[in-house]
Amino acid sequence: MTWTAVILAAGKGTRMASCKPKALQTLAGRPLIEHILSTLDAASIDEVVVVHSPEAKKDFKDETTARENITYVEQTEALGTAHALKTALPHVTSDNLLVLLGDVPLLSRPTINKLQKEIQKNDLVVLIGVVDNPSGYGRIHKDENGKPMTIIEELDCDDEQRKIKEINSGIMVFKTNVARSLTKKIKPNSKKNEYYLTDAIEIAYHEGLETITHKASEEEVFGINSKRDLAKAEKINRKNIADELMDNGVTVIDPDRIDVRGTLTCGQNVTIDVNTVFIGDVTLGDGVTIAPFTVISNSIIGDETSVHSHSNIEEADIGSKCNIGPFARIRPQTKLEEGARVGNFVETKKTVIGKGSKVNHLTYVGDATIGENTNIGAGTITCNYDGVNKHQTKIGDEVFIGSGVELVAPIEVENGATVAAGSTVSKRVPAEKLTIERSKQKTIDGWKKPTKKGE
Ligand code: UD1
Ligand code: CA
Repeated sequence: MTWTAVILAAGKGTRMASCKPKALQTLAGRPLIEHILSTLDAASIDEVVVVHSPEAKKDFKDETTARENITYVEQTEALGTAHALKTALPHVTSDNLLVLLGDVPLLSRPTINKLQKEIQKNDLVVLIGVVDNPSGYGRIHKDENGKPMTIIEELDCDDEQRKIKEINSGIMVFKTNVARSLTKKIKPNSKKNEYYLTDAIEIAYHEGLETITHKASEEEVFGINSKRDLAKAEKINRKNIADELMDNGVTVIDPDRIDVRGTLTCGQNVTIDVNTVFIGDVTLGDGVTIAPFTVISNSIIGDETSVHSHSNIEEADIGSKCNIGPFARIRPQTKLEEGARVGNFVETKKTVIGKGSKVNHLTYVGDATIGENTNIGAGTITCNYDGVNKHQTKIGDEVFIGSGVELVAPIEVENGATVAAGSTVSKRVPAEKLTIERSKQKTIDGWKKPTKKGE
């Protein structure tokens, strides 16, 4: 058995009120179609055909991950879902067909597997849902034996039909030759002048083909037509991810207030507090705690590390037993070794902070390496940029940098050195000595405070 998935994504998406194609709208940080494509990656699908509008060709290629088995096909005019499928069919080489809609992104792999099984005994399987509010969906009309006879679009429903809660997800599975034959017979809908794929069900019924419905959860078949729907889909997706994390033992303080925009992998005994966002690939080790209002992207956080509130961590490699924040900004290529601490209002970039070292308050360290058990005082700055080039700061082990020090790079501070508070150092700082760069403190005797004229 060979399988092609066709994703219909060439509609005008008028209800989205956006210049961006609907299937490229963002859900959990990724385009809708990317959710579908990654679900298909894990399913048994041999080839994928994406039907897009002429204007969107470049956008689709740019905004989705390149995959070898995708063919992009242009539907020159949005003449309806059946027309879109017909445009794709010449590119389909397999004997079975899974038709997906670019705006129904939450379909799961187990459901795809089930549909793939069902088609073995049937000609056509329609994935349906039973929903509280069916408005906007096509309603499933069955005969007395429960066989689907027609799908009636909202516009064509009478008052009774509008009450039907069994809806068409838009997702269908065909034997490919059946799809080829049925789509040829579909005529334009009289009201909208579009070729409706849903008409395939009525034709199949009259031809005596084996058609069945397969039911999935309301959440899985949720169709996104507007920005309101997009926000509802975020909610569904958020709940799915939080449930999965909790099933794997993660303590999620409030499942409504965690956003995972990528892949979050957690060890044991992890706690994630409210209003936290995880972007790209994030790994949290055993016993990690993430405090409120924290954003972490593409980073690894080691065992027993605590990230305190309002911290932002990007492309960093954080060791075990570290303490970060509150209000820390860890920028790309920061590496924290075991037990390092980065405190409030500290920014780091391209920097290694060695084992047990502390950068606790109001500091910028960039293009730097800091050894073990070193203390960087409050308000210290590595002056790494001369306006044209970036330069390195190298700080050794057991160093003490006093408060308010400026380290003008390139510079090296050797092991065990102490730099006095308020110094601006631009030359090598020798080991085990006190280096001080400060003007002498003076007190002016008899100095008078200025006064206002005329006083
Ligand atoms: C469609 C179904 C409806 C179903 C609902 C589920 C039809 C006629 N109606 O309605 O029964 O309940 O989905 O969400 O099929 N598209 C094209 N080319 C076109 C028109 C549409 O590629 O010419 C694509 C769209 O980009 C979209 C998908 O097909 O991804 C569905 O189109 P849309 O206009 O959103 O259909 P609905 O009105 O939601
Ligand atoms: Ca839709």
